[in-house]
Amino acid sequence: MVTTTSTLRARIHATLLHSNDSQSGRRWRAFHLFALGSGLLAVAVSSVVNLPDLVDRLLVLIIALVAIIFLVEYGLRLWSAPESLRYSGLSDGRARLRWALSATGLIGLLAVVPAFAISVSAVKADSDFAAIFCILWILKLSVHAPATGTLGRVISNERAALSSVLIIFIIVLVTAATATYFFERGGQPDQFGDLPSSLWWAVVTLTTTGYGDVVPHTVGGRMVGSVVMVSGILVLALMTGILATGFAEEVRRREYLRVWDQVVKVPMFTELGTVTLSEIVGKLRVRYYPPRFVVVRRDEPGDSMFFISDGEVEVRLPREPVRLGQGGFFGEMALLDRLPRSATIVTTQPTTLLVLYASDFYEIAAHIPSLVAAVEKEARRRRQENESGQATPSASS
Ligand code: CMP
Repeated sequence: MVTTTSTLRARIHATLLHSNDSQSGRRWRAFHLFALGSGLLAVAVSSVVNLPDLVDRLLVLIIALVAIIFLVEYGLRLWSAPESLRYSGLSDGRARLRWALSATGLIGLLAVVPAFAISVSAVKADSDFAAIFCILWILKLSVHAPATGTLGRVISNERAALSSVLIIFIIVLVTAATATYFFERGGQPDQFGDLPSSLWWAVVTLTTTGYGDVVPHTVGGRMVGSVVMVSGILVLALMTGILATGFAEEVRRREYLRVWDQVVKVPMFTELGTVTLSEIVGKLRVRYYPPRFVVVRRDEPGDSMFFISDGEVEVRLPREPVRLGQGGFFGEMALLDRLPRSATIVTTQPTTLLVLYASDFYEIAAHIPSLVAAVEKEARRRRQENESGQATPSASS
């Protein structure tokens, strides 16, 4: 009984983890996003005044439903908190208390409590409530979204470059604010009478926002303004470049680990040794497919081949269909023969595939001839089998 409970608890904990790539984890995330999106939409619409009574009641119902989902989620997260590695060594009660007092726990609770206040008491969700909800529910999303963690890591990795740009930003800002203060304070004492007011103008101009509420009138002030506008574009371009590059790098690193986890399930790759394997990992993409999904259609042009790291596919041949399981591959013939797909291939269960695009396949052919030789050998066998119409044992069977 204890084992059953703890396995169930571990499974639930793993499913709720945003880094979980399993089928159940991905389904939960999609459902959570859908509930959150519906809830936010209902809250936003409910802030519109003079809605028909029926629509109002429907919106309150949706908000209540989403709140119930979040309440169940909160309960499950609290119950499964002892499974977290972060709380290993603590008793179940202490682990739950620590989780409840963490940012995730507090935001999870805040996302639930006020929702019940308006839905259970059936108070009309007025615009104040709507604003609070939008913030709390979006906060909940930001806590669980992998992008938040990624952005945090990007800022940490790029802090040296970001600080340099920030220093340039501050230098331009203070210089421009001081210079404009000197030029404009006589003519516009209300707008440029002190340095903080000039700083406001400089920030609005440097960030290229330009509200137009404060405008320099003297020639000197306008010249400073021109320099600030051009500098603003440069500084923002630098900042965007640093963040975009850092983000792409971080995503590439995460994808690398995700692919690595799948690649080790394919014996054909593991036989290659770590160095060669690391070369190939960068060229593969992980794709998850539901059952009965057509991955490849006969007679269509082919630009990629697939390795099965989990699940099973059915190759629909004119004679009886052939099934390929974990470790198998398909789609190689179109790349080798440069011909359209020779068969339709459909998943029979949830399946994880590693995709290798044609350009990368030809590059790998030059670097890792042993891998391509094995693929070619199997393709030859399949061709013979299709021509003779009789099954022959594959190299792996
Ligand atoms: P391709 O022609 O690119 O697309 C369909 C794929 O089905 C083909 O590559 C092979 O990978 C696979 N295929 C074709 N014939 C057989 C077979 N006899 N046994 C297993 N797989 C096959």
